[in-house]
Amino acid sequence: MAIEVRNVSFSYSLDSAFETKVLDGVSFRLEHGENLGILGPTGSGKSTLIQLLNALLIPTQGEVLVDGLNTKDKKNGSKIRELVGVVFQYPENQFFEDKVYDEIAFGARNLKLSEEKVRERVLEAINFLELSADILQKSPFEISGGEKRKVAIASILVRKPKYLVLDEPFAGMDYPGTRALLSLFKNLKGKCSIIVVTHTLDELLGLVDKLLFLYKGRVKAFGDLRSLFDLDELREYVSLIELLSKLKKKGFSFRKSLVDMDSLEEDIVWNVLHGKV
Ligand SMILES: Nc1ncnc2c1ncn2[C@@H]1O[C@H](COP(=O)(O)OP(=O)(O)OP(=O)(O)O)[C@@H](O)[C@H]1O
Ligand SMILES: [Mg+2]
Repeated sequence: MAIEVRNVSFSYSLDSAFETKVLDGVSFRLEHGENLGILGPTGSGKSTLIQLLNALLIPTQGEVLVDGLNTKDKKNGSKIRELVGVVFQYPENQFFEDKVYDEIAFGARNLKLSEEKVRERVLEAINFLELSADILQKSPFEISGGEKRKVAIASILVRKPKYLVLDEPFAGMDYPGTRALLSLFKNLKGKCSIIVVTHTLDELLGLVDKLLFLYKGRVKAFGDLRSLFDLDELREYVSLIELLSKLKKKGFSFRKSLVDMDSLEEDIVWNVLHGKV
């Protein structure tokens, strides 16, 4: 059992003037039970790739197979979404129920389980995420940021996905919150495969077995974390990515795609000279 991505390309707005190829010839295979980390600069196609894994997006070319089920085949859609649970970035922005209980239960109810089974699963999920039961009657809008994130994750865990996909799950969280969440994810080992997009390398090291580097929509590297990657180089690259994201948020614009510290330095000088900051 595995997720197989075979020579996948993807373009948004296909056959229109706005067509943009975002992924180009992406291939990798993740066995069930293995955890995968996905790294790459802003705009490299990480979130797009994730949406291809649970058939929210369908490849323009190539194919994605989840335990042998092709995402292209419409009749596989609901089964694939049962197998692959996706927690999107800032998932708490999409809360819509009045009570935390219903927010978490929603995903399980979709599986057409009895209300008793739904309740069991909700309790199991909050237990696992170390949330106290009194949170269930609160409004999802009046709980803390860390609790919101956990509730959003619980709403996917109640579906007991075989593959749990997390798009930047630590975004906006403080260090202790990140560590706490990370250790919970580690407890999932053996129960489901985790596929996680994050730039916090140190968090990844204890969690994933494999790493996939996306760069401009292509796989720059894929393989076993410890045998294929030089950790010092990886650390430098990841700090570069983090720095880039921060600078972009502050209004920097980059004239070319950055691959190393030298071109970063050049572009910083350019931004300063052109009064961008
Ligand atoms: N719905 C969309 N329509 C058109 N283009 C899109 C759409 N979503 C994303 N893109 C473009 O596709 C490219 C890849 O975006 P994607 O969100 O997959 O990257 P990412 O690696 O997740 O980036 P980030 O680190 O900022 O989250 C970007 O150039 C983005 O502007
Ligand atoms: Mg993204």
